[in-house]
Amino acid sequence: MRKIIIAIDGYSACGKSTTAKEVANILGYRYIDSGAMYRAVTLFFLDNHISLTNPREIQKALSEINLGFHFDSNESSDIFMNGINVEKKIRKMRISENVSPVSAIKEVRLAMVAQQRKFGKEKGVVMDGRDIGTVVFPEAELKVFLTADIQTRAIRRQHELLERNQLVDLDEIISNITTRDRIDSMRKESPLIKAKDAFLLDTTHITIDEQVDETIRLAFPKILNKKK
Ligand code: DC
Repeated sequence: MRKIIIAIDGYSACGKSTTAKEVANILGYRYIDSGAMYRAVTLFFLDNHISLTNPREIQKALSEINLGFHFDSNESSDIFMNGINVEKKIRKMRISENVSPVSAIKEVRLAMVAQQRKFGKEKGVVMDGRDIGTVVFPEAELKVFLTADIQTRAIRRQHELLERNQLVDLDEIISNITTRDRIDSMRKESPLIKAKDAFLLDTTHITIDEQVDETIRLAFPKILNKKK
């Protein structure tokens, strides 16, 4: 069977990562969480007080960041920065509140996109993010664009945070998601936009299992190389 690239893009907290991870698991593909990469860069910039308006400082910082993913048998994929597991740290609200401005910086995007393309070189990859189907892999065999209403997304994100022992007010989550969607969609560099050939999937009234089933259903003809 041929290996393909599956690009899953969409708004914040639509279940992209959960869907992508499960689809990758079913197909025996690698899962790459591109958002985790922007979050890790944000963590580095905050911890090292990098000025977001100084391109030289940004470039130097980027050259000092080494990112990689580690997969374990429990299907979890943790991101490592310079050899340290930063998966927990990057999920904190402190990072969510700062990641959109950092990921709007041209130098940051160029560095991350180059690395993401390397991760996808061998195909057999499911990657989720905002610009995977438009910029990173415009030739991806399958593109899915997820959306859902804001209330549903916020409640799902609140549950996720609770599972990580973080109790965050629903209004704070709604405000964070809305702001991020706005910055991600309005930025000059690779804004969040549905690729013309992406399948639109509204997840407001469907379960994660249904999202996964639908993605697999769309993937099969591509894997079997049938036109559809
Ligand atoms: O998927 P996430 O919510 O963890 O992503 C965090 C932020 O990273 C998101 O608000 C915008 C940015 N991002 C991006 O600009 N491009 C991507 N491909 C993935 C994420």
